[in-house]
Amino acid sequence: MATALVLLLAGQAAAQGDTAPTDRLRQAARADYVLQCAGCHRGDGRGSNPHGIPDFRQSVGAFVHLPAGREYLVRVPGAAHSQLSHAELADVLNWVLTEFSPAQLPADFVPYDEAEVAAARPRRYDDVVPVRHELAKALAAMGFTLSDYSYGNDRKP
Ligand code: HEC
Repeated sequence: MATALVLLLAGQAAAQGDTAPTDRLRQAARADYVLQCAGCHRGDGRGSNPHGIPDFRQSVGAFVHLPAGREYLVRVPGAAHSQLSHAELADVLNWVLTEFSPAQLPADFVPYDEAEVAAARPRRYDDVVPVRHELAKALAAMGFTLSDYSYGNDRKP
């Protein structure tokens, strides 16, 4: 399936004689981000902290250092409840991470794939706020400073 897609994309790129398949994947992911995420997270990923939408820039990549953080990115409501297929969500998350927070990613970053998203996505959080605060604490201990998180601020520890 994935191989067929790559071959299809490679064929299209060859037919058009310009863009490489990886560029086409990134363009598709970017388009999905614009349609499904940017309304809240903004085109440049800065979000709107006063409205509870955290800044992705120089921050979101840090989550990937922890298994629970990798899962968090799939399970947050905006991602898990989106209209995207598992494979599309994997591509959008990979795009978000490499576009907005490459410096925080582990050097050996393994991109999300359809299977990882499919496994984590159905396990929705009852309450995302304490999860985010716990992750921020654990990552701070590892030297990462996440962007401010004002969502559910009344419950901040
Ligand atoms: C209706 C507005 C809205 C949309 C659309 C939306 N989000 Fe969000 N997103 C939020 C809010 C609010 C938060 C903070 C609360 C939370 O952690 O879920 C958030 C948080 C996140 C976080 C955690 C960031 C952090 O620093 O903790 C990620 C990752 C994320 N969203 C990804 C996505 C992706 C990917 C999409 C598109 C598929 C998307 N979101 C669509 C509102 C939205």
